[in-house]
Amino acid sequence: MTKVLHSALLLIALSAPAFAIDTVDIILDSKVESMKAAGLGAVTYPHKLHEQLYECDDCHPKIFIDKKGGNDMNMQKNMTEQQCGYAGCHNSAYAFPLYLCDYCHEVLPTAKDK
Ligand code: HEC
Ligand code: HEC
Repeated sequence: MTKVLHSALLLIALSAPAFAIDTVDIILDSKVESMKAAGLGAVTYPHKLHEQLYECDDCHPKIFIDKKGGNDMNMQKNMTEQQCGYAGCHNSAYAFPLYLCDYCHEVLPTAKDK
């Protein structure tokens, strides 16, 4: 009987939904043209790292819809305690601050460097 119960529990465990997405990094570049004007490139968002630090529902769907490109992410929102700048995230002592542009954005070589 216990053996049957154990197999049943194992089956439930194995068929549980996956609690992680396959993507390690998500490249956010919908506003790459305006980024270029600021000398910056696309944002590499380390999704896997954030999965390790928080629960899915800390972010989804309260702060971000779980769909790439589904949130119109931008700096104005980041700087007004929304999205990446949500209180407790990159607008707090818990994470690096928003003025460290190159922690999120690729830095484009300037004309001088070329
Ligand atoms: C710290 C916040 C945060 C956490 C925690 C988090 N996500 Fe996300 N997730 C994001 C952001 C930001 C995006 C990109 C949204 C965009 O492009 O507008 C995203 C995108 C996604 C996507 C869409 C991927 C695609 O290619 O369309 C899925 C699915 C997803 N997350 C599932 C999860 C699951 C499952 C967990 C928990 C294991 C999780 N997320 C944890 C912030 C988070
Ligand atoms: C915590 C991560 C993060 C940091 C730090 C950060 N950004 Fe961003 N930035 C983003 C994200 C995410 C987007 C939107 C990406 C997308 O979907 O195109 C963005 C978009 C932008 C854009 C596109 C236009 C707009 O209004 O959104 C510009 C320009 C920009 N950032 C400049 C900067 C500058 C300058 C700094 C430093 C002062 C900076 N960013 C720091 C994450 C960051």
